[in-house]
Amino acid sequence: MDNYITGETVRRLRAARRMTQEQLAERLGVTGKAVSKWETGRGLPDIALLEPLARALRISVPELLSGEQVVNSNRAANLLRSPLYVCPVCGNVIHAGGAAVVSCCGVALPPLEAEEPDGEHRLVRERFDGEYFFSIPHPMGKDHFISFMAYVSTGRFDLVKLYPEGPAEARFYPWGGGCLYWYCNRHGLFREKL
Ligand SMILES: [Fe+2]
Repeated sequence: MDNYITGETVRRLRAARRMTQEQLAERLGVTGKAVSKWETGRGLPDIALLEPLARALRISVPELLSGEQVVNSNRAANLLRSPLYVCPVCGNVIHAGGAAVVSCCGVALPPLEAEEPDGEHRLVRERFDGEYFFSIPHPMGKDHFISFMAYVSTGRFDLVKLYPEGPAEARFYPWGGGCLYWYCNRHGLFREKL
């Protein structure tokens, strides 16, 4: 795949259909924030959303994809110390120690912006045998699931891949402080300080 849908294409087609970000989000079962991220190059719609997105914008998937080539326009995000990237096509998770130009499956990936968890994506923290035990009470169906949890502390990055139909939970050895990240394939990246 040489092209993936760009935020500019989503914005242009949405505006042409006289839809707000919220209206488009509602049709796709995502949040207005998620649509806003796509349109501003801070995230990409998961591949499972391409068909519904094309339907909502009343064009074909090939037309949707044939927009201009994706470029990482979010230069400011290069200042992020430790950006995370997720390929919307194959689900590959990439963690860079510093500024990087990252692509996967022919798609240029923007560094993801993490947000505060909402009720649907809240983190449940427990401690067993001196270890962190985290779970996310979130659906784990094949179209909507938590695809990884990552514990990031000073100098360490510990990632646990999660799968549809499996539990959204993971154990980590506490290295002291840091953050937990988790990723919903529809709603994006969330972060909580530990
Ligand atoms: Fe979600």
